[in-house]
Amino acid sequence: MPTWVQVVYLICAVGFILALKGLSGPKTARRGNLIGAAAAVVGCALPFIYVDHLEHVPLILGAIAVGTAGGVFGARKVQMTQMPQMVALFNGVGGGAAALVALLELNHMLDVQAALDALGGPQVDAYGWFVYAATAFTIFVGSVSFAGSLITFAKLQELMTSRPVVFPGLPVAFGGLLLGGIVLSVLTVTSASIGIGIGLCLVGLLFGVLLVLPVGGADVPIVISLLNAFTGLTVAAGGYVLSNTLLLVGGTLVGASGTFLTLLMARAMGRSVANILFGALKGGSTLGAGVASDRPVRSAGPEDVAILLGYADRVIIVPGYGLAVAQAQHTLRELVDVLGERGTKVDYAIHPVAGRMPGHMNVLLAEAQVPYEQLVEMDHINGEFKNTDVVLVVGANDVVNPAAKTTPGAPIYGMPILNADEAKQVVFMKRSMRPGFAGIENELLFDPKTTLLFGDAKESLGKLLNAVKAL
Ligand code: TAP
Repeated sequence: MPTWVQVVYLICAVGFILALKGLSGPKTARRGNLIGAAAAVVGCALPFIYVDHLEHVPLILGAIAVGTAGGVFGARKVQMTQMPQMVALFNGVGGGAAALVALLELNHMLDVQAALDALGGPQVDAYGWFVYAATAFTIFVGSVSFAGSLITFAKLQELMTSRPVVFPGLPVAFGGLLLGGIVLSVLTVTSASIGIGIGLCLVGLLFGVLLVLPVGGADVPIVISLLNAFTGLTVAAGGYVLSNTLLLVGGTLVGASGTFLTLLMARAMGRSVANILFGALKGGSTLGAGVASDRPVRSAGPEDVAILLGYADRVIIVPGYGLAVAQAQHTLRELVDVLGERGTKVDYAIHPVAGRMPGHMNVLLAEAQVPYEQLVEMDHINGEFKNTDVVLVVGANDVVNPAAKTTPGAPIYGMPILNADEAKQVVFMKRSMRPGFAGIENELLFDPKTTLLFGDAKESLGKLLNAVKAL
């Protein structure tokens, strides 16, 4: 590889690092995304320029065209609420591609070794054991990531049940497949053959399915992040096998950031990663019954809620998944603007796992031009609820459910929550008495200081906005 190519790869790697840095804040996220995409495009284009006799060019161009069309179509069409399954799909095909490349590379390595052996003379080991080990790792973990990601996609897209799937003998099958994966990996190093490689791939696929089946409900997005980390490590190992530094750096970045994200999300939900993956095997539920309660609640119309809000000094908005479903962020921002003009101090309380993926609420509200200063993270705003006149909970439920503090055994027990229950008045905007993602009842809905404004968030907010303007 010429030196100039290595320098360009290095620049691309720096681009990936700058992209990650940019993505860590809402103000710089768009720029970070563009830098990362540009570095990836340059990295993909480079082999066309420096490789002397690139083979199968029409096939490669065809694959790039299909991938680009699928990516553009998917990214344009996907709803904000479907983003986790989109990430799962992209991540899965990344892992699958790395596993396929490693299988082809194994075939190539065996051909080279066979040609060397055919020359006769002293035995020469063309690649060394570590390259075979990295190849085995890429095939196995890439296959796990591919199959696991497809199952998470099916769960979140509701193509199958999103509840944990467990069956007798699952732990034994799981252990057996893991052992099989280790044995076949060792065989790839000691006596590689393409048959062993394909076997390793099949075992990895089955292992990926069994790894994700017992994970249910609210935990699925965390497993997506974990599989993302797996794909990163797979790509890094693939970069080693192919002697491609950019893949090595890019994969390591994805592996490290995916690992951090997994740990941060698990912490934000008060769970350990082991509990998320294997909790269901021990009989622990990760999801409640999901039935709507028929206990009496106090409900009101938009005019009554407008009076509560319009004459309050301090209001905190708690946005959640339902806000994204209703696409009500613009109307909400208008309401907050009008309240601000009336002299009310309003902030948005952002729970780390509100919505269905990390940063969901920040992105949604940034899209509606909400100033970043009004978005306050949970740890910073939790002390302020007790001095708040009205908390307006828009399409959120689990992130304000006191069961997280009071009910051991509840699926969300231990998850830090927004202290909405400490405010003087609480207003919930939701369509029914159905529970949130965790599927459990929320005692705060029945509290004497709570009022419910039933209806789709966008419609209700529109009516509320008009009512506040009319005050
Ligand atoms: P949820 O607890 O899921 O509550 C959403 C609420 O929105 C529901 O009560 C629903 O009630 C209401 N809703 C749905 N569509 C609506 C619409 N069109 N208009 C008005 N309301 C609507 O959401 P949350 O409080 O944001 O909590 C997030 C959950 O996802 C947590 O359990 C969290 O652990 C989980 N989770 C999140 C992440 C990340 S990183 N964000 C990752 C893993 C898991 P109705 O059906 O009655 O309207």
